[in-house]
Amino acid sequence: MIKEAVMGALPPRVREQIDAWMEAMSVFAEIRDPKVLASLGPAGVRGLLLHRGKQGRPTEMRARHSAHFDWTYPSDQPEMADLYRRAKAGQWDGEKDLPWHISVDPLSTEHRLLPEGFFDLAVLEEHGVHLDAKEQMQITHSLAAWMLSQFLHGEQGALFAAAQVTEAVQFFDGKLYGATQVVDEGRHVEVFNRYLSDKLERLYQVNDNLFVIIDSLMSDGRWDMKFLGMQIMVEGLALGAFGTLYSQTREPLLKELLRRVILDEARHVHYGVVALREHVTKELSESERREREDWAFEVALLMRNRFMAYEVYDEWFAGGRLSRAQWRDVVERAPGMTTFRQVMFSRLVPNLREIGLLSPRILPHYDRVGLLRYMGEKAASELTGEGMIADLDRTALARAA
Ligand SMILES: [Fe+2]
Ligand SMILES: [Fe+2]
Repeated sequence: MIKEAVMGALPPRVREQIDAWMEAMSVFAEIRDPKVLASLGPAGVRGLLLHRGKQGRPTEMRARHSAHFDWTYPSDQPEMADLYRRAKAGQWDGEKDLPWHISVDPLSTEHRLLPEGFFDLAVLEEHGVHLDAKEQMQITHSLAAWMLSQFLHGEQGALFAAAQVTEAVQFFDGKLYGATQVVDEGRHVEVFNRYLSDKLERLYQVNDNLFVIIDSLMSDGRWDMKFLGMQIMVEGLALGAFGTLYSQTREPLLKELLRRVILDEARHVHYGVVALREHVTKELSESERREREDWAFEVALLMRNRFMAYEVYDEWFAGGRLSRAQWRDVVERAPGMTTFRQVMFSRLVPNLREIGLLSPRILPHYDRVGLLRYMGEKAASELTGEGMIADLDRTALARAA
């Protein structure tokens, strides 16, 4: 009560700043494993408190890992060799293979970027904000551009992580496969960037939580942590997000762009699962495995709870129109965001199970935050990109019928 009274007496901008600090503090306070805190903490300070990703200039991150050479060039992992073959056959040209001639109107009601009802306008009204029809389309434009901007920033992280992992991984077949992933990620940066700059004419800054994850992976010298973070967590969640947006958007160029990216990403996550499954079960000690298990849980929470699109809030509602707490309520109750969270975690949880990072000791924690229901879904190693697209099309057809 006292806290609310004091906060209420402050000017909106000061209140918003205090709320942001308290939220950042709560991220650290919730981390139970000291090793995980040591790994995420410094990146957290740089991202959440210093906002290093938002200073309008390039960021230097010190990478620490060993390059692993093998002068005997062994064929050592048939599943990775197969992924390498498939990746070579599946290459495409971001310039020539997408229908860039399509003109995109971000405010179009016919070719909507995001479906009607993505936001529950009634929740906004509850908090005293009324958006007219034009503003509703404009905020949809903002949100779509925000999401795609975060995809783009994630792709930059994936590009560098793929390059580092290619050097560091011990499987020679993994190195050859990794070379194709570096090309894939470069192409993803190319197409998302082009779509944002040419079609939506907007680019949002990197979200602080995403920055923290990328920063902590870049500076972690252990290749399997980079793998876990990038190939399983970030890419696994991105794959879920791409799939949701693919089935929801009515904008044909974006849909085709996402379809092609999903086909590539499915291989990336599959590779992550294969590499880590062997490593976690055969190479790591139990305490090392536990540390990864806790780390994965904390990062899952960070991503589940904290992707609140504050960059859109700052643009639209900061300065008193809505408080950050009210905005959180709007985002948490937005039907479109709920679907996103569900699909993202239905992809992630089975992969963690498959690589051995969902032991009985951590299950109650996943249960507590409602993520355990995805336990029985298929892992990326049992799915192909084509199968995923067919599934998404089937579900969309069923919904339309
Ligand atoms: Fe990618
Ligand atoms: Fe990827």
